[in-house]
Amino acid sequence: AAVCAASVYIVRRRMQSSGKWARVIEILKVLEEDCATPIGKLRQVADAMTVEMHAGLASEGGSKLKMLISYVDNLPSGEEHGFFYALDLGGTNFRVMRVLLGGKEGRVVKQESEEVSIPPHLMISGSDELFNFIAEALAKFVATEGEDFHLPEGRQRELGFTFSFPVKQTSLSSGTLIKWTKGFSIEDTVGQDVVGELVKAMERVGLDMNVTALVNDTVGTLAGGRYYNPDVVAAVILGTGTNAAYVERAHAIPKWHGLLPKSGEMVINMEWGNFRSSHLPLTEYDHSLDVDSLNPGEQILEKIISGMYLGEILRRVLLKMAEEAAFFGDSVPPKLRIPFIIRTPNMSAMHSDTSPDLKVVGSKLKDILEVPTTSLKMRKVVISLCNIIATRGARLSAAGIYGILKKLGRDAPKDGETQKSVIAMDGGLFEHYTQFSESMESSLKELLGDEASESVEVIHSNDGSGVGAALLAASHSQYLEDSET
Ligand code: GLC
Repeated sequence: AAVCAASVYIVRRRMQSSGKWARVIEILKVLEEDCATPIGKLRQVADAMTVEMHAGLASEGGSKLKMLISYVDNLPSGEEHGFFYALDLGGTNFRVMRVLLGGKEGRVVKQESEEVSIPPHLMISGSDELFNFIAEALAKFVATEGEDFHLPEGRQRELGFTFSFPVKQTSLSSGTLIKWTKGFSIEDTVGQDVVGELVKAMERVGLDMNVTALVNDTVGTLAGGRYYNPDVVAAVILGTGTNAAYVERAHAIPKWHGLLPKSGEMVINMEWGNFRSSHLPLTEYDHSLDVDSLNPGEQILEKIISGMYLGEILRRVLLKMAEEAAFFGDSVPPKLRIPFIIRTPNMSAMHSDTSPDLKVVGSKLKDILEVPTTSLKMRKVVISLCNIIATRGARLSAAGIYGILKKLGRDAPKDGETQKSVIAMDGGLFEHYTQFSESMESSLKELLGDEASESVEVIHSNDGSGVGAALLAASHSQYLEDSET
């Protein structure tokens, strides 16, 4: 009787485990269906993007897409020269940089930079605390200035400030913060002039510097990209957050009531991370991630594309599998309940595991979630999840780029024209998550078709936003007239 009971027990366990496995597969399949981005859907998203671009340009608050006017109406020519600082704040790190620009011949003669990580508590405390920290780091960096960076007698140091959050610019060198994104939440900065906040902090630490340009990272990347390549028409960031900027005809911006720029052009910071549309493929995990976020209801496109969130989506799917299908065994690994514990670089490392036994996946799961062992079958499921989540983000970013090209009339070859359109890209997701960037580029080709693909090029503009801010500081320097005479 005992033997019989034992075998009944084993059979029951097997049935249970095959039932659980069936549930794992079911969760996987539902995710796959909900994240699907067939080409028709991508075209719908691109068209919706173009419609919203028009609406955002027509009137203030006309669309979820803010289509912010950058006051950059002149992109670098290559003639910029002199010594400038740049400060880049936008993610978990910020960068300070000094650049020596050599004008037409020399280009960037010398460049030095330092990266400082922002203590997480400063991202959610007070404005003064954050800006003090930044000003102090900048002051320390200035103190290391060597002989190579020579400032002419009596001149004030000048700085281009890359601030990668939505700002309503009031001039090229001032603007108020509309809202924080990407995990920052500091109430008393909202509505303030961020240059004013920085200048006050610099005064507090005794640093004398003039903030000559305030730019979004997309605008900086566009400027940096154009400096090296005259065909750059747009810039896209795929990093902690995601966004795009492009060169618009001033005539096509009804909400712009200022003087018509000489160039006839104006760079627009789209803030596309805030795009949403009924065409976006959203899942239950996206909804719960959004509800639990610091900014519910906002930055919906960003929450399904960008580096801050991809790993977190993966965690949420795995948690469901653990809870409903005992994916990790009878109990749920406690670490799996910690939001944001799976970071996107970890997801990327697992996704690119090509070893036959997927040992990177195994070791990452062990390190992060403290699950001692996993079967190959489980590790394969994890790879599928990474693939589904990353592919959706990559394809949607391609749809966004295609939307911009459509808006510019550069999505199809024109008779007899050999116009090139170059998109300058930057951000950790683009740079380091190979499957993501490859999928993005192949989807863009798929959208454009063979012929139009020939005239569109995606380039990596490495650290372009910092150099771009320095270039814009140079072309708007308070000493410009002196140096021209
Ligand atoms: C977020 C910010 C945006 C920035 C982007 C990329 O979407 O709101 O301003 O450009 O992240 O860093």
